[in-house]
Amino acid sequence: MKVLDKEFEVMMTQEEIDSLVSDLASKLDTEYQGKDLVIVAILNGSFIFVSDLVRKMKLDPEVIFLKYKSYKGTRSGEVKVQLELEDDIEDKHVLILEDIVDTGKTIVRISQDLKEHEPASLKYGTLFLKPDCYNSEVELSFIGKELPNKFVLGYGMDYNGKGRSLNELYQLKD
Ligand code: IMP
Ligand code: MG
Repeated sequence: MKVLDKEFEVMMTQEEIDSLVSDLASKLDTEYQGKDLVIVAILNGSFIFVSDLVRKMKLDPEVIFLKYKSYKGTRSGEVKVQLELEDDIEDKHVLILEDIVDTGKTIVRISQDLKEHEPASLKYGTLFLKPDCYNSEVELSFIGKELPNKFVLGYGMDYNGKGRSLNELYQLKD
């Protein structure tokens, strides 16, 4: 399938993604039972994942979206804050959720910013992780699935703004 100037092929079906999201939802229900949970989701890529996830959860977490941007085309770059935290997370259990973690630069930057707000706990989760690229001390407590080091799109993730609405996960053809 062609998106802008590049060819992509299916890497994961809608059903496979759905079962990863269901597994994460039940893990979070167990982990945060009886706690005041705030999910901080990172825009833009996580909007589909997190909206599916919270609807599968039995708990009813608060959901906040922040916007950080790092990718340019198919490469990781400098992290910029585009939407800041205005909500109160002090003494709440905060879970930062990403669609996909690559170098970890975005998550390091977010973690520095949110620690200043003194949450009761701060954990990190991602639907997908590229372990070969990960280069950060931050521990990811919830990982949907590890992926090979390939550029992907679909299920919220984009290539220069396109491809987010695709239901499957696609990888760049080499
Ligand atoms: P990091 O800061 O290098 O970990 O990059 C993380 C951010 O880059 C994620 O929030 C994604 O939105 C984006 N990203 C990383 N890998 C991909 C990819 O393969 N396709 C699309 N976006 C990606
Ligand atoms: Mg992102």
